[in-house]
Amino acid sequence: MILSNGSWSAGIIGTGSYVPEAVLKNSYFEERLDTDDQWIVSRTGIKERRRVRPDIATSDIATYAALKAIEDAKLKPEDLDMIIVATVTPDMAFPSTACIVQKNIGAENAAALDISAACSGFIYGLSIASQFIKYGSMKNILLIGAETLSKITDYNDRNTCVLFGDGAGAAVISSVEEGFGILSTYMGSDGRGGELLKLPAGGSRLPASEETIANSLHFIKMDGSEVFKFAIKIMGEAAEKALSLCGMRKEDIDYLIPHQANIRIIESATKRLKIDKDKVFINVEKYGNMSAASVAVALDEAKRTNKLNKGELVVLVAFGGGLTWGSAVIKWS
Ligand code: UT7
Repeated sequence: MILSNGSWSAGIIGTGSYVPEAVLKNSYFEERLDTDDQWIVSRTGIKERRRVRPDIATSDIATYAALKAIEDAKLKPEDLDMIIVATVTPDMAFPSTACIVQKNIGAENAAALDISAACSGFIYGLSIASQFIKYGSMKNILLIGAETLSKITDYNDRNTCVLFGDGAGAAVISSVEEGFGILSTYMGSDGRGGELLKLPAGGSRLPASEETIANSLHFIKMDGSEVFKFAIKIMGEAAEKALSLCGMRKEDIDYLIPHQANIRIIESATKRLKIDKDKVFINVEKYGNMSAASVAVALDEAKRTNKLNKGELVVLVAFGGGLTWGSAVIKWS
């Protein structure tokens, strides 16, 4: 729907999130693998994570989060012009998970698409959505970051299985009061690092076969320490880049919502940006790394616990497979 060509301020007018009830504590892994709670907590900060039931797919939890965000925004599903789902665990290759959510919620006027930018997906989506709102060609966009990483996690691989969890977060992006909302977004990628974090099989390169299953190629493969080094470098850089794009400095940050992959990565970014710990949202201990859902769930939890106040400068930042990274600066409305 083309409304007009103009320049509006785009902001977040509603949020919602959902995490599955089932909790996997570190003791679950202690009982099955050569690992222990002390290693997991000291190296990652993670104490527990959530896991969906086998019959639940990404679109299901995306739908729960979406309905909450739409209600929070005081809209109806038919008010939506577009639905964007950021995920690396779509229900299937096609139809898109966004189309399934569109059907589930009855958003009959919305276009729907998935984006694949791994853990940076929610911020990539925020950047895409804000362009349509700022340009005036759409009024209301539902953005969802949703993952059922448990479906692609190898529970025999201690290098990865302790890290990941399931969850979904959503936000409605619409026009807001001038001067408020999304002041800048920044996205980057480096495909040369694609081998560091990937799901090798199930696509056109390695279609599913007895061999791919026998070799566990439908599970996440990661070079953790290389991803760690990249993350330490890029989190602070990306946040500073988005700040510079809207003429702000790191001293101006009121609240930081970083991707929740590892407490040591978050602490390193916090140190570089010289922010007090109480201005940084952290929930990695409860949920682990939920990829595209991490920032989305954190944003909703920060909002619901009154951490975000009108006029404050909120910075979102993430990195992930691809490699990708992204950041956004929001003057909270
Ligand atoms: O959203 C993006 C997704 N990925 C990430 O964010 C991951 C980024 N990387 C990390 O968070 C960290 O690299 C890890 C938490 C994955 C690993 O921490 P580390 O301090 O970088 O450990 P390391 O890779 O240097 O491994 C140290 C040792 C290795 O043993 P050896 O080879 O030194 O004998 C691993 O085999 O720790 C071992 N190890 C474990 N030990 C007990 C790896 N996983 C485990 C485990 N329990 N679960």
